[in-house]
Amino acid sequence: MVKGKESYVIPRMKTGIEGFDKFFEQGIPQGYAVLVEGGPGSGKTNFCLQILNNACKKGKRVLYMSFEEPEKRLISHMMNFGWNPEKYIEKGNLMIKRFNALDIARSVEALLSEAKKELLIDIQPVLIPKNFKPEIVLIDSLSSISSAFSGEEARFRIYMEQLFRYLESHDITSFLIRETSNPTHVGHNVTERGEAVSFLSDGIITIYNVIYDNGTRKRAIEVLKMRGENIDRKIVEAEILNKKGFVVHNDKMLEGRYKLT
Ligand SMILES: Nc1ncnc2c1ncn2[C@@H]1O[C@H](COP(=O)(O)OP(=O)(O)OP(=O)(O)O)[C@@H](O)[C@H]1O
Ligand SMILES: [Mg+2]
Repeated sequence: MVKGKESYVIPRMKTGIEGFDKFFEQGIPQGYAVLVEGGPGSGKTNFCLQILNNACKKGKRVLYMSFEEPEKRLISHMMNFGWNPEKYIEKGNLMIKRFNALDIARSVEALLSEAKKELLIDIQPVLIPKNFKPEIVLIDSLSSISSAFSGEEARFRIYMEQLFRYLESHDITSFLIRETSNPTHVGHNVTERGEAVSFLSDGIITIYNVIYDNGTRKRAIEVLKMRGENIDRKIVEAEILNKKGFVVHNDKMLEGRYKLT
């Protein structure tokens, strides 16, 4: 059967972060898996919390899966920005849940020994709560999941492939945080754990810690890749502001002598 043209048109989402949405001609295609990469403290969690809050405002169902900070602390960060996440939790369109990465590594191991390696492909990833059907999922972070697989890179890869396939088949748009000690695409040549996920992802957003020669620091952000979307290719300034959240200055390029880390 030939499908109508309109069935090939993928809806796009805006993040609601004004300066950030200017990177895109249309927006982030629905159902995409987007990596949010950056060094320690660069602002990955806060960037994702900003997306979460904006999506909840629009009535979307959002799931935040934290392998790092506990629920309470994430809620407290949001309240510092002047937001009211409890309202969305009560309404039932927000779920913030903390997971233990070791549980996942263990259950993948159990499934492997049970199902013989070839059959594993069909097993659902164990971690999405059954009673909640999210449209947007944020995972903080793939790096934490990866370290729980301690050296079992092949198992981590199998798990990631399942997870990406699950998200895709449920048309869930996802933002997956990945901590990078060195942004791999600015010339460093380090093979990092969990590197395989770059190939699986549809998009990559990179947040930088900028260090100037005079010792001052700033934050910066770029969209490194977004399959099928015309993106503005540049690195611009970003800030995290009290009572406001993650702000992107799309018209402010970095000036002077600096390094990106
Ligand atoms: N209310 C706030 N106002 C201003 N800046 C803030 C506020 N809350 C957090 N920050 C800044 O955000 C930084 C951390 O951001 P975030 O937790 O998003 O980084 P991250 O990349 O997720 O770090 P990690 O790798 O540790 O998980 C803090 O170091 C702090 O400077
Ligand atoms: Mg974080």
